[in-house]
Amino acid sequence: MNRDAIGVFDSGMGGLTAVKVLNQIMPHENIIYFGDTARIPYGTRSRQTIQRYTQEDIAFLRRHPVKMIIAACGTVSSMLGADSPVDDMPFTGVVYPAARAACASTQNGRVGIIGTPATVASGSYEQAIHNVDQSVDVTAMACPLFVHLVEYGYTDRNDPITRLAAEEYLQPIRDAGVDTLILGCTHYPVIAPTIADIMGEGVKLISASEAAANYAKQLLEENDLLTDSTDHAHNTYYVSDSVSMFRDNAKNFLADAVNGQVFSSRI
Ligand code: DGL
Repeated sequence: MNRDAIGVFDSGMGGLTAVKVLNQIMPHENIIYFGDTARIPYGTRSRQTIQRYTQEDIAFLRRHPVKMIIAACGTVSSMLGADSPVDDMPFTGVVYPAARAACASTQNGRVGIIGTPATVASGSYEQAIHNVDQSVDVTAMACPLFVHLVEYGYTDRNDPITRLAAEEYLQPIRDAGVDTLILGCTHYPVIAPTIADIMGEGVKLISASEAAANYAKQLLEENDLLTDSTDHAHNTYYVSDSVSMFRDNAKNFLADAVNGQVFSSRI
């Protein structure tokens, strides 16, 4: 049992889609969130730069009382090596949990992946899927505009710009006949209704954020780290850029107003 917080980080606000699920499935667990809003996007940067930012983000969270860390970012998760970047507490990214969920979901053995350019170029999801099930056929597409469209609020289900971009990006995945599609970037659940419309009813969407949140709960249970508090959870948010911009946009990710204090902090 442990009353410390769950540490969550992302390049910006995408990780809030994981926070939303964490709050739903573990309503008594406090969360400390770091969004590196001053340096977003990560997904168009080099591996070396993303790895350096990741170390800094983790170091920031470790200066707070956290009992586990979640890299709620597909891009960061794709640049991690085989070894956990922290050795004294549970850690997860989003790639393995999403790959595991996709393998459990697919009936026809064809899985699609969408993510940032860095994520797709890394081949991380393919590798994780094939570690679970070698026979799964994978089609991956980078969707470079999605993070920007989501960050700037083009998130309405029928937004014509987002719909046009999604139709273009998703066509090769539709052509591949997948029955399961991993939303491999934590920004993408915000535009899941648009993606679902284009993919059609027969395709199950796997949110990497939701899969990671569920896996985090499993890790806390296995390590006997769940809180014994029955108080409602308290979230604290830190961002490396403007607090007011974060507050304005965060409701798109949380589907609600920001449920905690927000601080601007240098890392
Ligand atoms: N939410 C991040 C991800 O999951 C966004 C990446 C970016 O900063 O480009 O990949």
